[in-house]
Amino acid sequence: MLYSDIFLFPIKLGVTLDEEFSYKNDLIEWIHEYKDKDVNNTVEISNRGGYQTRGNFYKEPGAEGFDPFMDKIWKQICETIQNYSEGIMLKNYLNTNTLNLVNIWINVNGPGAFNHVHQHPGSVLSGVFWVKSSEKSGSLNIMDPLEMNTYCLGPNQAHFEPIEGKMIVFPSCLPHNVDTNDDEETRISISFNLDFG
Ligand SMILES: [Fe+2]
Repeated sequence: MLYSDIFLFPIKLGVTLDEEFSYKNDLIEWIHEYKDKDVNNTVEISNRGGYQTRGNFYKEPGAEGFDPFMDKIWKQICETIQNYSEGIMLKNYLNTNTLNLVNIWINVNGPGAFNHVHQHPGSVLSGVFWVKSSEKSGSLNIMDPLEMNTYCLGPNQAHFEPIEGKMIVFPSCLPHNVDTNDDEETRISISFNLDFG
């Protein structure tokens, strides 16, 4: 009798780290000032107990100062996607199609705040960029969407420690959550969705 193993449908994530992250302190200061002025914000999507800007807040009046930071973050997104596309069909697709930012938003989660399990419908790839974090401020947990099928095969969750300057890009269909911030300091991250057209 012949037997073969067949593993189908690999899931790919892309990770970059801005080791310098020279604009970190300026960005943190800008975010706190923006949050303090954004007193009427009522956004609550996956976050519990934290603050989240509107998607595409950077296009709104009052957020003009974000432009220099946006340029740097977009540069890291493009470099992440360039690396991510190596070895997969996306590489060819990007020869004739453009990478589009669907939306981008800031998350400020104080002690005790967390994000429940969710996905990002309406985009192809999603990502997170950690601005201010510690090892106690809550990991990102990404789940296998076929977890019912994988109980016997291995772990069906992957945990990513928040590291300042680090960016992770993953397929938008993957369920994920963020652990409770157990630090006394605030955790700040920036999330985004990407499409190709
Ligand atoms: Fe998310």
